[in-house]
Amino acid sequence: MSGNPTYPSKFTVYVILCWILAAFGGLMFGYDIGISGGVTAMDDFLIKFFPKVHERKMHAKEDNYCKYDDQYLQLFTSSLYLAALVSSFAASKVCTKFGRKPTILAASVFFLAGAALSASAQHLWMLIIGRVLLGIGVGFGNEAVPLFLSEIAPVQHRGAVNILFQLFVTVGILFANLVNYWTSKIHPYGWRVSLGIAGVPAAILFIGSLIITETPASLVVRGKESLGHTTLQKIRGVKEVDVEFQQIMEASEIARGVKQPFKKLISPSSMPPLIIGVMLQVFQQFTGINAIMFYAPVLFQTVGFKNDASLLSSVITGLVNVCCTFVSIFSVDRFGRRKLLLQACVQMFASQAIIGGILLRDLHATDSLTKPEAIWVVFLVCMFVSAFAWSWGPLGWLIPSETFPLETRTAGFAFAVSSNMLCTFIIAQAFLSMLCHMRALIFFFFGGWILVMGIFVFFLLPETKNVPIDAMVDTVWKKHPVWKKFIADYEGKKTDPFMDHPIHIDLVAAVFEEFSSLASTKLKSNSSSCFHPEVESCNSTHKSL
Ligand code: BGC
Repeated sequence: MSGNPTYPSKFTVYVILCWILAAFGGLMFGYDIGISGGVTAMDDFLIKFFPKVHERKMHAKEDNYCKYDDQYLQLFTSSLYLAALVSSFAASKVCTKFGRKPTILAASVFFLAGAALSASAQHLWMLIIGRVLLGIGVGFGNEAVPLFLSEIAPVQHRGAVNILFQLFVTVGILFANLVNYWTSKIHPYGWRVSLGIAGVPAAILFIGSLIITETPASLVVRGKESLGHTTLQKIRGVKEVDVEFQQIMEASEIARGVKQPFKKLISPSSMPPLIIGVMLQVFQQFTGINAIMFYAPVLFQTVGFKNDASLLSSVITGLVNVCCTFVSIFSVDRFGRRKLLLQACVQMFASQAIIGGILLRDLHATDSLTKPEAIWVVFLVCMFVSAFAWSWGPLGWLIPSETFPLETRTAGFAFAVSSNMLCTFIIAQAFLSMLCHMRALIFFFFGGWILVMGIFVFFLLPETKNVPIDAMVDTVWKKHPVWKKFIADYEGKKTDPFMDHPIHIDLVAAVFEEFSSLASTKLKSNSSSCFHPEVESCNSTHKSL
């Protein structure tokens, strides 16, 4: 995609601060992902909330693959993702109406409440409600932060800036693993410390959300053109931003004409970014990454490590995850998105297949692997995680956040986020049962998915490196051999292959429109008045723009 415009920009301290503070939303997400696996492996936690699972775990002859298979235990992990799934649609409404900044603020409030409740839980229901509040925080944060980062990044660094979100996710996971390693030695309330520490990054995100700017695109589309212009100058660190601003104005003009973004989203011309956004998130989860991220300690115990060694091994995979995300930061805007995704498919497929082979041959119900074999499994898990970390992890968030036009960006991204959450929920809820029933074959199951996603990327994913975010339709979708057929108005023709069935489309769109405005009205009435920029108590926040 050479020949794409590069607009003038400089790095300023303020803009870098905005990137880092917003990325704390990723850290919260990562912490929530990483903490549950270690906590559910702690005896004190199991004795208090899941005594039956604890009993089974203590039973010497228990089947390796099945000792943790318990629907309630899995619900503790997965309830967060169900809440995030639902709340991402409400978050999209808040994001469109009030901006990215108040949405991030709301996320931090939910995170704080969730951390407090789960750390102080006396009963299982308190624990689950705490997870649900954290989940709403994830829904809001994951909707707003990647969009925020993509919108304020200069085009030539958009990939790298957006990947800060994923970098912070991986740091959050690693931090959670380290915390668990430490708290597992604090009896009997180590698990409370693990769950409560989530309040620290949540508080940083809260303060950060008061400091960061609103994005120019969000300001302009909500009618604040002159503020949008000065904000663009501020975040680019230069005065001459007129060409870029003009492009934002044009995109906003179109966006303002679209009164029902969810309806527009399921019209054929919006299908290309929607299909890509949703499928990338589905595929990201069906790599099997969270089978490892949630249950690494459990998995390592399954192959024969003792409690401590298995927690330590998950620290190692967490470290690999963080380090390899840097590879993506430095290469995504140079080599492009497609090459990273395809290379990773090969590496992940090979690792899954070999792990499956070793377990199939040597790990049976009640024995364990030999030490060298167990070390091989840890090494292969690291190979798998490293490939994910420089490809499907970050790009699963980057690509959907940069490919929707402004008029459907928040609605479209909500679909992407919720698809991710749905699949994360499915894996979190089902993995331990799948491990129990499919045993080693589970690794071949994920390997099969990796093959399919490689084929999808090869044929259907366009390269978006260096394309300005508000020029995607003209530069990418209208030129792609498959997707151009979907874009209405292409070459002046109304080529809408599905227009014979507008009733179905209208119906589904109306349901989504209703559902999301209902959810956002409820959330507005329940939470901070700072959702509304004109409210007096929020003015100080807005003045900081
Ligand atoms: C995924 C998470 C995953 C994490 C691992 C994220 O991009 O959405 O589900 O646990 O990467 O680093």
